[in-house]
Amino acid sequence: MAEKRITLEINNVSKSFAKVENDEVTHALNEISLSLRSGEFVSLVGPSGCGKSTILRLVAGLIMPTTGEITVDGKEITEPSPERGMMFQKSTLFPWLTVEKNIAFSLKMQGKLKGHEEKVERMLKVIGLESFRNDYPGQLSGGMAQRVALMRSLINEPDILLLDEPLGALDAFTRMNMQDEILKIWQEKGQLALMVTHDVDEAVYMGTRVIVMDANPGRVVADIKIDESYPRDRSSKTFVEYRNEILNRLHFGGRD
Ligand SMILES: Nc1ncnc2c1ncn2[C@@H]1O[C@H](COP(=O)(O)OP(=O)(O)OP(=O)(O)O)[C@@H](O)[C@H]1O
Ligand SMILES: [Mg+2]
Repeated sequence: MAEKRITLEINNVSKSFAKVENDEVTHALNEISLSLRSGEFVSLVGPSGCGKSTILRLVAGLIMPTTGEITVDGKEITEPSPERGMMFQKSTLFPWLTVEKNIAFSLKMQGKLKGHEEKVERMLKVIGLESFRNDYPGQLSGGMAQRVALMRSLINEPDILLLDEPLGALDAFTRMNMQDEILKIWQEKGQLALMVTHDVDEAVYMGTRVIVMDANPGRVVADIKIDESYPRDRSSKTFVEYRNEILNRLHFGGRD
């Protein structure tokens, strides 16, 4: 693995948003500190509004912390970079470009045209949409469009992969296949992946680490290392134990 190894430090980061309609302030994140590095697959779970997307947007460099700082190898993040690839919670494709051209778009933007055809080919194959390559986004189902958006962010091979509920629009079977495909791509490159999901099962199945958050104010309440090799067995005793531990942290426990 000749990939660049990086360390991402989130140091005491808080983020507040002023509300448009009155003088109130939303404390989206309160004093978050995390240290993450290449080779980790970090799942972020927590109730709606606890600041998961805000963390990803901060790391992407789309917004700045109110206090604290975020660094990559000691260098503060101040703007977006192709080294930090983001798939948004509501990803939209460019409606005027075909499936193939949507996937290749960011490569072209960066002038990385060498070998781009093979890369696009591989991505189309992974998502099973080879025969849809010349279709436009308007002709795709919601799940198909989500798979294309996912590949559009993976194709750049960023050092940090930021995925905001990347599989939310997929049916259960496609979703399980795509979990394996994302893991395969991540394992090949060994980058740092930071993925938001509402699905605790998915968080444990994919993560080397699961970070559990709570809201009002947004904060980290648990940071759990998943000490299991891949591929994981969703029905194993340890898997179920991890899942129950996380559900308890999310206040959905009740059974041991
Ligand atoms: N640009 C913004 N302006 C004002 N408030 C914002 C902005 N972005 C986020 N917020 C607020 O910050 C809080 C955290 O939002 P965020 O989108 O990070 O939550 P989330 O954990 O991703 O939720 P969900 O699971 O519903 O996607 C929410 O209360 C939200 O209303
Ligand atoms: Mg969100």
